[in-house]
Amino acid sequence: MDPTTLIPTPDAIPVHWGWFHILLLVTFTMHILLMNAMLGTVFIAAVNHFTRDGGGSPPTQAVAEKLPFTIAFAVNFGVAPLLFAQVLYGHLIYTSSILMGTFWLSIIGILIAAYYLAYVYKYKYHQLEKGRALLTGSICILLLIIAFLFSNNFTLMLHPESWARYFDKPGGLLLNLADPTIWPRYLHFMAAAVAVGGMSIALFFSYKKHTGDAEAAPWIGYGCKWFAYATFINFGIGAWFLGSLPQGIVSMNTSSGFFFLVFLIGGIIAAVFAALLALKERVMPALYSLLTTIVLMILVRDMLRTLYLQPWFSRSELTVQASYSPLLVFLLFFIGGIVLIGWMLKITFQNSDDQEAQS
Ligand code: HEM
Repeated sequence: MDPTTLIPTPDAIPVHWGWFHILLLVTFTMHILLMNAMLGTVFIAAVNHFTRDGGGSPPTQAVAEKLPFTIAFAVNFGVAPLLFAQVLYGHLIYTSSILMGTFWLSIIGILIAAYYLAYVYKYKYHQLEKGRALLTGSICILLLIIAFLFSNNFTLMLHPESWARYFDKPGGLLLNLADPTIWPRYLHFMAAAVAVGGMSIALFFSYKKHTGDAEAAPWIGYGCKWFAYATFINFGIGAWFLGSLPQGIVSMNTSSGFFFLVFLIGGIIAAVFAALLALKERVMPALYSLLTTIVLMILVRDMLRTLYLQPWFSRSELTVQASYSPLLVFLLFFIGGIVLIGWMLKITFQNSDDQEAQS
């Protein structure tokens, strides 16, 4: 069967694709940062509880307190890139979502379960004791499953040649497991999440130290170590990922191939700096290097998607039926929303500081 016959005709878009592309990259960066902070910190909390027989520590208490917030933010900041991915790649991502529909829809239930358990962790933290290890372990596994399903969908959409499997298995249970990149890609994302979780802990306790908490200092080093060691491990996983890519896909004759390599090299250099700076507990410079790495790696991922899709589709093929007002309204609400969220976070931090000062 000719796989191109399985690809639906893309819908027309209201403005040049470049707008949606930039918005996709910006909102996905926010999603990935928040998702990493959420998953990484709960992973570190789970390891902390398991190694202390359920005992707690200042970082686990902080994770318990903040986890419902981080889940809510990670999920809400996932909605925007999902919309933009649908605008640009709707004909591909809708199809892959249907092929794995049973798993895809199960994300909603898994997410609700994880969110519920996060509230149990927050409000029963002190009563739970030994149960904390099991609870954080369960939340972590649920979130890891969701991440795995995302990796499957966002790679299945790149492989129309594998879609015909649907006719043998039409139950919405297809995954992209035959793709040799799936495991290194997924583990690369997950190790990065642990690293960013460590950095989030280091940042949180730097802030605490700054506001006069005398016991915060050792936990800055603790977070930095998690960040640095997870990043070192990720160099190995990243090399595995690179080695698993199909031969010849990254061709220097294409601009995407050229920028793929440029961004990749830049991202690796920034990651080396970030890890070394973290080992010296220089939190802010390490954070800037980390942010540089994340932005460059997101661009690498984007170039890779373009390269994978080359035989099937290019964004420039999308038809434009000009209508600028919805974009304008979106941008106004987007900027207003970000300002509002910043203000809410400020108030939340102020309140929790006041509560701590009173207790
Ligand atoms: C809370 C649990 C979640 C986790 C652990 C998670 C994790 C991930 C991971 C690992 C990826 C990268 C996949 C890859 O490229 O291999 C990803 C991508 C993505 N996620 Fe999430 N995600 C979560 C929730 C959500 C939700 C609820 C939404 C939407 C409402 C969402 C929207 C997206 C989108 C649109 C992308 C891909 C964007 C692109 O390809 O440019 N995520 N997520």
